[in-house]
Amino acid sequence: METKKEYKRYLVTSALPYANGPVHIGHLAGVYVPSDIYVRYLRLRGRDVVWVCGSDEHGVPITIKARKEGVTPQDVVDKYNDIIKRSFEGLGISFDIYSRTTSPTHYQTASEFFRTLHEKGIFTEATSQQYYDEEAKTFLADRYITGTCPHCQSEGAYGDQCEKCGSTLNPTDLINPKSMISGSAPVMKETTHWYLPLDRYEGKLREWILEGHKEWKTNVYGQCKSWLDMGLQPRAVSRDLNWGIPVPVEGAEGKVLYVWFDAPIGYISATKDLTPEWEKYWKSEDTKMVHFIGKDNIVFHCIVFPTMLMAHGDYILPENVPANEFLNLEGDKISTSKNWAVWLNEYLEEMPGKQDVLRYVLCANAPETKDNDFTWKDYQARNNNELVAVLGNFVNRALVLTHKYYGGVVPEAGELTDYDKEILAELPKIKVALEENIETYRFREALKEAMNIARLGNKYLADTEPWKVVKTDPERVKTILNVALQIVANTAVAIEPFMPFSAEKITSMLAVDRLQWDMIGRTDIVPAGHTIGKAELLFEKIEDEVIERQVKKLADAKAANLAANAEVPEQKESVTFDDFGKMDIRVSTVVAAEKVAKTKKLLKLTVDTGIDTRTIVSGIAEYYTPEELVGRQILVLVNLLPRELKGITSQGMILMSADATGRLTLLAPTDKVPNGSQVG
Ligand code: 2FM
Ligand code: ZN
Repeated sequence: METKKEYKRYLVTSALPYANGPVHIGHLAGVYVPSDIYVRYLRLRGRDVVWVCGSDEHGVPITIKARKEGVTPQDVVDKYNDIIKRSFEGLGISFDIYSRTTSPTHYQTASEFFRTLHEKGIFTEATSQQYYDEEAKTFLADRYITGTCPHCQSEGAYGDQCEKCGSTLNPTDLINPKSMISGSAPVMKETTHWYLPLDRYEGKLREWILEGHKEWKTNVYGQCKSWLDMGLQPRAVSRDLNWGIPVPVEGAEGKVLYVWFDAPIGYISATKDLTPEWEKYWKSEDTKMVHFIGKDNIVFHCIVFPTMLMAHGDYILPENVPANEFLNLEGDKISTSKNWAVWLNEYLEEMPGKQDVLRYVLCANAPETKDNDFTWKDYQARNNNELVAVLGNFVNRALVLTHKYYGGVVPEAGELTDYDKEILAELPKIKVALEENIETYRFREALKEAMNIARLGNKYLADTEPWKVVKTDPERVKTILNVALQIVANTAVAIEPFMPFSAEKITSMLAVDRLQWDMIGRTDIVPAGHTIGKAELLFEKIEDEVIERQVKKLADAKAANLAANAEVPEQKESVTFDDFGKMDIRVSTVVAAEKVAKTKKLLKLTVDTGIDTRTIVSGIAEYYTPEELVGRQILVLVNLLPRELKGITSQGMILMSADATGRLTLLAPTDKVPNGSQVG
């Protein structure tokens, strides 16, 4: 169990996303949705909490992106910081501050932190041979170098980490190292760096984590244990790069702070920018600090940053680090470089008003104890079967009936039946379960509990049948609807941390004031005589077409990525001009098109070749619908010998390009030309 210490305040941090791309659903499910739920819950309970985040704007990922896009690192971070910040706001991720590690406060804070450790004699300085790219004239740190992983033998491991097996690496561990900049094999060159002696803190870390925090999540505790059992090594905290915070001591020209040294200090800088009382949150044992991160960040938040904090001496350590596993997408690992992701900024544009649907699905599917999968089908099913059918349906029925029978005025409850009491007695129990789950970072379970209130409400209405009873016992219906409305109000409070937009909608439909956690269990939230607002639908059914569009978008991204990385087939044997001249290719127009029955791939086209009107059977049904084709100009090889296909005589062949994945695209003249025009 987590220490049952009574804390006076909370400091919640969420991993600073690299500002080298937009945020995707993997980030959201792993870090930002859970931390938003946690903080919203604490706020509803009236706790003193600050929640900080911001963009991680240094490090090699940024400079690599800049090189790729042909812009400066500053351009990259300005662009993505803006996109990330706005999209978080769009999803209702309610940080108290979203800062940046290029801010003046951060430069000053990180430099001061380094200087303090330097002056205390914490760092060791060592000269070593490191990889250097002679063409690009630069040292190759971290992700600037790739090679084969010495542990799992997979290709494409980076100089700091193998993404395949998760092991942390040094550039010199890589087999067949290669520069990411020039592609050349690097040479060794001497350089000096500052090292944080993690090994000297091993004893303290063992005691703090292995003895003191047995309640941490199994994945987190397990990773820490295995690190500590393997034995810690000093870790370089500077790099030879020209993008980052300069090492603030003499004789350090050309050296910057290692991004993983500066980034977590970003939590401190952000708190400074948020409140002049920042020290209260960072330096008092009465503060509970919680770091929300993904599993690839565990070592930095449980070993490296705590060592920095211990070495500094002024700061508290985290009370918990609830790291999540990874979310996959349609069965494949999410990948920024392969564009295999659902990007938050695009989701918000393409699915307006559906913020809570995404929040709900990501929480219900959160990779809390193991990697999990997001699929659009599951997204649709959860929306239609859970949000629409359970939550939306209950709230809507209670409100609509109140309008219908009482003109929107909350009726007075008469004497409660045993059944009413039994139902209402569930509410405080659910409240306890919600609290226990949220406080132990089990948000999936907590969400189920919140939904249980809506389930309870649905069951109550189904069992009490006010629409029937109204004919025989109208007095009883007043009690039923009063009870139902109290359950609606309870639902609003319980779902607020998970689905704040819907909670807000219910609150305004009920025309009640600010929600507070302790309202859960109460049966007087909407008083008799109070007039409620108009009933509106909370969720809408999501149709197949909407989902199909998203699935197609992913398929296109996959095809484009495969095609971009595929090898172009070698050139075929040479032909004579006469060989080519034998082919009679004509511009033609499709005049009719239909599917060939019982086939998936074939379309029967009627084309006007300028010479005649003829039938051609073509294998393009997977890529074009008949409607899309009619009226289009295409290119037809008209003198190909006729062939019989599925009982239809095909008189010619339509010219198409095929990419490396086999995806077909029609070829056409770029301007309209008369049918029958010859190609050659
Ligand atoms: O893994 C990442 O995306 C890092 N940018 C997280 C940094 S967390 C912190 F320490 F700032
Ligand atoms: Zn590996």
